[in-house]
Amino acid sequence: MSSTSEAGWGSRIGLVLAMAGNSVGLGNFLRFPAQAIDNGGGAFIIPYLVCFLLMGIPLLFVEWSMGRFGGRYGYHSTPFIFQSFHKAPYWKYFGVFGIFTNLAVATFYCYLESWALSWAYYSVTGEFTGMNQQEVKQFFTDYIALGTNQPIIFWLICLVINTYILSRGLSGGVEKVAKIGMPLLLLFGIILAVSGITIQAGNSGAINDGIVGLNYLWTPDFSSIWNFDVWVAAAGQIFFTLSLGMGSIHCYASYVKSKDDIALNSMSAGWMNGFVEIVLGSAIIIPIAIGYLGIPMVEEMTSGGSGLGIGFAVLPSLFSNWGAFGIVAGVMWFGLLFFAGITSSLAMGTPVMAFMEDHFSWKRVPAALLFGVMILLFGIPCVLSQDAFNEFDYWAGTVALVIFALIEIILFAWVFGMDKGWKEINLGADIKVPMIFKFIIKYVSPLFLLIVFIGGAPAIWENATKDSSFYGILARILLLFLFIFISIFVYIASKKIKSEKL
Ligand code: PHE
Repeated sequence: MSSTSEAGWGSRIGLVLAMAGNSVGLGNFLRFPAQAIDNGGGAFIIPYLVCFLLMGIPLLFVEWSMGRFGGRYGYHSTPFIFQSFHKAPYWKYFGVFGIFTNLAVATFYCYLESWALSWAYYSVTGEFTGMNQQEVKQFFTDYIALGTNQPIIFWLICLVINTYILSRGLSGGVEKVAKIGMPLLLLFGIILAVSGITIQAGNSGAINDGIVGLNYLWTPDFSSIWNFDVWVAAAGQIFFTLSLGMGSIHCYASYVKSKDDIALNSMSAGWMNGFVEIVLGSAIIIPIAIGYLGIPMVEEMTSGGSGLGIGFAVLPSLFSNWGAFGIVAGVMWFGLLFFAGITSSLAMGTPVMAFMEDHFSWKRVPAALLFGVMILLFGIPCVLSQDAFNEFDYWAGTVALVIFALIEIILFAWVFGMDKGWKEINLGADIKVPMIFKFIIKYVSPLFLLIVFIGGAPAIWENATKDSSFYGILARILLLFLFIFISIFVYIASKKIKSEKL
């Protein structure tokens, strides 16, 4: 039925690297360390690990198996993947989230990705050489205030690169990029992490050993277990970093052959993301920033949980303490961020393309162009205004993920049924999934999600009703419009399926 039925992954290693590339993103290197510091360092780490085990891993099993299941019926995006689990007509509208969120997150994500691209370029051309901290900060401030047209140019280049790779398809585009980008990212990450950890106080301007930053993060503070906000932040980070509650994992997994393993593959990709986040993500900006600036100052810079300031406005000047190697470090750091970003934004593009290919018989190239153009149009407010950016990030990048995850786990474990679901997870499995996960997926994860959602509801309400600037309000209207727009297309697609069946 669909033009994508022959599309698929070229190899198992390619699939795992593409999935790991989907998960490993700016979230691992910028958001994670900043969230950790913002939530008190050691206080963050226990809730974070608990969320990883009780929500992250179970949802990975669920999303991979839902994707593969839907793929069996020729569906590669969540509206009709959901529909294949239960015939009630409303499920497909819940599945709208799995297209909506990808588009909405991609709008601001691709813009950030273009910062990494331009900063990598500036590092190569030596733009930051000789700048002191104040000057780099000023450069950053001017850049985001669109003082020149360079941000727009790099943004457009970034969109063209994404669109081009997507137009080459999964095995010919996405998989190839992951096979080059992921090993390089690991290599750069390891070199930077070793350089960060081995910083010595008193040497070339450092005031702390690199290890001070690591200790700050890894000395567990058990009192945080009673702090609900830290739990919400940890859960949010697990969602964002693993790309859960998005629909992008379902889409990638829907191209896995129907009897091929998903249990081991999902764990390989998930743990690779864990390694990159927990080991590399905590060993670069935290030790370097704390090494040169000290804990109080770094705490101040990360308040709000965004690592963008440290990553872009501070690190380039700190690298200059490293002499000639500092230039290489700059290129590696921003190159790493760009690879991390692009392998993730490609994953945001595929559900949108798959939907058009499956249900409207679009070819790959126009489908990729559609994604590129939509990101361009919806991205404009994010480029022009921080308020719009924040709205997109909050509604799509935080709230929608939890809602979608709650819905999908109910559909999978309760409506479809956990016995059937468990069989799906284990079908073709190359590892034995511990039985305890059957229990966790059915009871623990949904309860956990429900608590996070209910506990977070007052804050959500407050955000929904608070005043905002023109661009903030515009962003909310655009998001609403996007959701309705996709729902209408889903409605049309369902009519087409019905008429084909007659
Ligand atoms: N997981 C990515 C990150 O950590 C973000 C992402 C979200 C990627 C949704 C794909 C889909 O940056």
